[in-house]
Amino acid sequence: MFRVIKCKNKTEIAEKVSLRIENQIKRKKSSLFILPTGSTPVPIYKKLVKDCKEGKVSFKKVKTFNLDEYLGLPSDHYERYYNFMMRNLFSGIDINPSNINIPNSEAKNFSREAKNYEQKYRDEGPADLAILGIGRNGHIGFNEPGTGIDSVTHVVSISESTRIANSRFFDSLEQVPKKAITMGIDTIMSAKEIIIVITGKDKRIILDRFLKEKDFDPDIPATALLKHGNVKVYVDREAMGGK
Ligand code: F6R
Repeated sequence: MFRVIKCKNKTEIAEKVSLRIENQIKRKKSSLFILPTGSTPVPIYKKLVKDCKEGKVSFKKVKTFNLDEYLGLPSDHYERYYNFMMRNLFSGIDINPSNINIPNSEAKNFSREAKNYEQKYRDEGPADLAILGIGRNGHIGFNEPGTGIDSVTHVVSISESTRIANSRFFDSLEQVPKKAITMGIDTIMSAKEIIIVITGKDKRIILDRFLKEKDFDPDIPATALLKHGNVKVYVDREAMGGK
């Protein structure tokens, strides 16, 4: 199944995707999720925090693996993904901190950290559900164009176009890290179900290209999802060009 679900706006997507997450937890309390950062998931995380505070869902047994983490930022940097996740989701829900997994950007040896992260995920996984955003160049996680479909968690050089796109979160382009650790495409594809959320007018061009593809095209890493079998693509009107 590869279904495109057209929604009015980000609020409607947040309602639908958070409901799917909450139903998954109701079905299996110890569900494992792969989670993204960036601006796309923020409304979803807000809704999950609200619902948890109102007692509608509990994350006590839930396990999470984040897709990626920047390398080279000070540990207290606002944009470090660990800090992003604490601020936007984890500090507002009742998750057990020991069930949270994010690549450690303070590790001494980053390749070893990537390997260990992959191993831990494979030991505890596969994920019941992966939530993804998409980069303007079609990346998922930090798997930039040209990444192999068989890639696992690895250290990556962030492409110039992604650094420019992400510079909106930093004071200047120079401050955007050049490296990251990311789950590979194969790691992501191991999830039993994948939801990719594509919102906002900045994603119009990539959404159009993505939906026209029929098979994996390494120039658009997200097209790997065409090979998965259980994918839902949530899009809003802005990304569809107002349609
Ligand atoms: C972040 C991640 C990235 C983002 C993508 C879109 O953990 O995996 O692939 O999903 O860069 O970012 P936003 O949502 O900021 O447009």
